Amino acid sequence: MRYWSHSEIRETFLKYFADHDHLVIGSRSLVPVDDPTLLLVNSGMAPLKPFFTGEQDAPRKRLCNIQKCVRTNDIESVGDRHHLTFFEMMGNWSIGDYFKQEAIEFAWRLISEGFGFDTSRIYATVYGEDRKLPEIPSDDESLRIWETLLPPERIIRLGAESNFWGPAGTSGPCGPCTEVFFDRGEEYGCGQPTCGPECECGRFLEIWNAGVFMQYDLRGDGMFAELPFRSVDAGAGLDRFSIILQSVDSVYETDLLKPIVEIVVSESELPADAKSVRIITDHVRCGTLLISDGVQPGNLGKEYVLRRLLRRAFLHSKLAGVSSETLLTAAATVRELLSPYYPEVKDSGELVRHTIEKEHASFETTLRRAMRELEKIVDSSNGSITGADAFRLHDTLGLPLEMTKELAHARGLTVNEKEYKEQLEEHRRRSRG
Ligand code: GLY
Repeated sequence: MRYWSHSEIRETFLKYFADHDHLVIGSRSLVPVDDPTLLLVNSGMAPLKPFFTGEQDAPRKRLCNIQKCVRTNDIESVGDRHHLTFFEMMGNWSIGDYFKQEAIEFAWRLISEGFGFDTSRIYATVYGEDRKLPEIPSDDESLRIWETLLPPERIIRLGAESNFWGPAGTSGPCGPCTEVFFDRGEEYGCGQPTCGPECECGRFLEIWNAGVFMQYDLRGDGMFAELPFRSVDAGAGLDRFSIILQSVDSVYETDLLKPIVEIVVSESELPADAKSVRIITDHVRCGTLLISDGVQPGNLGKEYVLRRLLRRAFLHSKLAGVSSETLLTAAATVRELLSPYYPEVKDSGELVRHTIEKEHASFETTLRRAMRELEKIVDSSNGSITGADAFRLHDTLGLPLEMTKELAHARGLTVNEKEYKEQLEEHRRRSRG
């Protein structure tokens, strides 16, 4: 496989679908518009939901784009080879137009002929029956289509957890999906005989959700209704494609993130693959994109997501010996890398700098107080920080649990999280009362 830069991957993806009659649309903001079910845009289809429900007319029945996305449920996994909080999803959509056959063929042809992936390493998963969703039949049609392209042992039926996608948010279009995996090789695997695309070990990297076959509308009452027409929502992570097409070990070595990592390590003793370096890189990148879309740090909702990301980056920069000036340089590098694709990122220089500086100053004050308090707690603890103490740090000093945990771990202590959650619940009950 030859080397593909991220800009070549972008161009090739969009051109392929434009050549197949898809209208190229721009990325929407990370802040959802008129969708109270969703905190932040988490997929290419999220801003397009009204097209799939028929509430709005799409400009064409075939669309494609590269959409900015944030997935905060992956925040704890950041630091491994491929989980990111911010990523770009290359998407193609059929809105009441083509369905399974064409969607799978499009993905297959682009992977094999377009990008020249080694197809002997490709696996596909399809939706098999699952007791959790008795009303959804297994997707035998996708299975049959894949059987014309791949040997049967490389087509895997999986349940709802893996192969039923959506809705984005708590209600809306969803359906069974078929995913494409790339086998990175035994050296990336756990070595278990059961290892396959469903294994978490990282050997099999999901590169493309080649089609969510949207037939269903999950309603607010938890029941499925039929959508007025059938659509396809397909999404491929630009970062995942870049890992494979640039033959690198992790997403941090791709040309999407490496320039940011280089800024971070220029001032740290830590190696480029250290968890703290990766966390700083990911969180500064995600924070910069959120600020560029008008989000400011705060204590609720998307504002809290930004605060948490920035403060976690600040904390890890302390652990890694990285100054706040370097974080600002890293943020400027994020903007440089992404400005050609997102005009709002080009124009946000002052806003990003000012927001990070202000949040950093407020974090320093919090951290100083919290550290004093934490030292007292550590002195009187025997191996573990009680849930009550962790809750007090959160409640009175604004130190999130995960930071208490990270500070505690650095001192060889654990935190009683169960008790912390009980305290939090009790506090919520009292506040409601
Ligand atoms: N919308 C499909 C996916 O995110 O996998």
